[in-house]
Amino acid sequence: MTLQIAPSLLSADFARLADEIADVEAAGADMLHLDLMDGHFVPNLTFGPPVIKALAKVATVPLDAHLMVTNPDDLVADLAAAGVHRTAVHVETCPHLHRTLAGIRDLGMRAGVAINPATSLVLLEEVIDELDFVLIMSVNPGFGGQAFIASSLPKIRRLRQTIGDRSVDISVDGGVDPDTAGPLAAAGATTLIAGSAIFGTSDRGRALETLRAAAKRGNVQ
Ligand code: DX5
Ligand code: ZN
Repeated sequence: MTLQIAPSLLSADFARLADEIADVEAAGADMLHLDLMDGHFVPNLTFGPPVIKALAKVATVPLDAHLMVTNPDDLVADLAAAGVHRTAVHVETCPHLHRTLAGIRDLGMRAGVAINPATSLVLLEEVIDELDFVLIMSVNPGFGGQAFIASSLPKIRRLRQTIGDRSVDISVDGGVDPDTAGPLAAAGATTLIAGSAIFGTSDRGRALETLRAAAKRGNVQ
């Protein structure tokens, strides 16, 4: 799998979202990462399907929804209708994870499971053949700009072994920057999601280039 980079709009200027999207698309973004937060599962609020529907009209790259909400099943149909390409639900919020993943796929989206730093990969074992990607949280979800949690690296290595030759993407979200991108790629991550490392700089082309180069170096080591 070739490495994908998905800027997280959480760190973009919310008053200029269309411009911010155009800027990172011109810089070579492979996807746009959209963080939905409900103020309940995580202590923050962002946006939902109506805003995403508007963003889908201006975006040209696939939309990647990350549902940090207590009731993700209530949102997936609206996200599919809004034009979202892939959706990750948190394992911590889904008592019927197998059904939820099937529902996402039935709606025509790729299905993923996000997993918090403190949650064991064991919880994914029984659904590994039902998902298209795993979203490893390398910070506790809710905010951009937090420090990378180092135990995410061995966790990704273990997940890579579990996945074997299945076509399952490993995405990593939180604290991805030029220092962590190399070790993450070396551990087996195939999608890097980055908010502050991209939107926190004025030259987004350079930010993406730097992340890509760091990931490539990590893979060679
Ligand atoms: C955090 C979000 C992330 C966030 C990452 O809960 O899921 O997508 O934007 O931000 P950075 O890259 O700044 O750690
Ligand atoms: Zn996210």
